[in-house]
Amino acid sequence: MPEVLITGASSGIGLALAKRYKDAGYRVHVCGRNKDKLQSVLPESEQVRHICFDLNDKAAIFEVADKLPQLDGIILNAGGCEYIDDAKQFDSALFERIIRVNLISVGYCLDAWLGKLNSSAFLVFVSSSASFLPLPRAEAYGASKAGLTYLAKTLDVDLAGSGIQVSVVHPGFVDTPLTQKNDFPMPCQVTSEQAAERIFQGVENKQFDIHFPRRFTYLLKFFGWLPHNVWRHVAAKWIKR
Ligand SMILES: NC(=O)c1ccc[n+]([C@@H]2O[C@H](COP(=O)([O-])OP(=O)(O)OC[C@H]3O[C@@H](n4cnc5c(N)ncnc54)[C@H](OP(=O)(O)O)[C@@H]3O)[C@@H](O)[C@H]2O)c1
Repeated sequence: MPEVLITGASSGIGLALAKRYKDAGYRVHVCGRNKDKLQSVLPESEQVRHICFDLNDKAAIFEVADKLPQLDGIILNAGGCEYIDDAKQFDSALFERIIRVNLISVGYCLDAWLGKLNSSAFLVFVSSSASFLPLPRAEAYGASKAGLTYLAKTLDVDLAGSGIQVSVVHPGFVDTPLTQKNDFPMPCQVTSEQAAERIFQGVENKQFDIHFPRRFTYLLKFFGWLPHNVWRHVAAKWIKR
């Protein structure tokens, strides 16, 4: 049975991915911080293994490696989102929290688990379309995801020829507990099941940049290509609260 490890699989996109890979016949190693939560959303079975750790705990991430089999895929999906509400009162603790969970911890996972990947495995990073351009209040989240996309692109270059297939996912808005906290309009939102299907198909098709829904992500990419001054004007007039 093929084996895939998915971080952040206790809710939202990660949980939908875990179910999609299970349906496709994989044994899924589902990661989260809370065993009871994992058990309630996707009970342990022959095809489902639970792994509990906090991404901030480097030692725990390395301990996980000792219990893992050889893997056919790793999906580094876990993450958090917090906004800088007032840029003039820059919250460095928030900034550190978000960079740590969304970016630094990914370095720990790569260090600990890359050696577990089979030679033709897939390695997937769940970034965000927020990385395409500077969005209001996203100083921490956007920087973490821009860094993650850069990391994925660089690994794709350095792992070329190794057989390992790297993909980076840039979702638009997906209806999950993470976005249910948002207090602003979220156009073109998709369900976590739709997001998981797009990611699954993108990985199957060996796509590097998996982005969706395209009517939204192409618009963000377009604005991201414009000179920064133009985007600043658009953001100030149409988006900034
Ligand atoms: N939803 C969107 O619109 C959207 C758009 C673009 C990108 N994304 C990205 O997609 C990924 C999944 O987000 P989601 O929307 O599905 O969010 P979610 O439902 O809130 O799920 C987040 C997952 O990450 C795990 N996690 C968070 N902090 C952790 C930590 N310190 N240690 C271990 N696990 C931790 C959570 O586990 P616990 O159960 O332990 O909390 C949970 O399983 C994130 O990287 C997010 O940035 C989401």
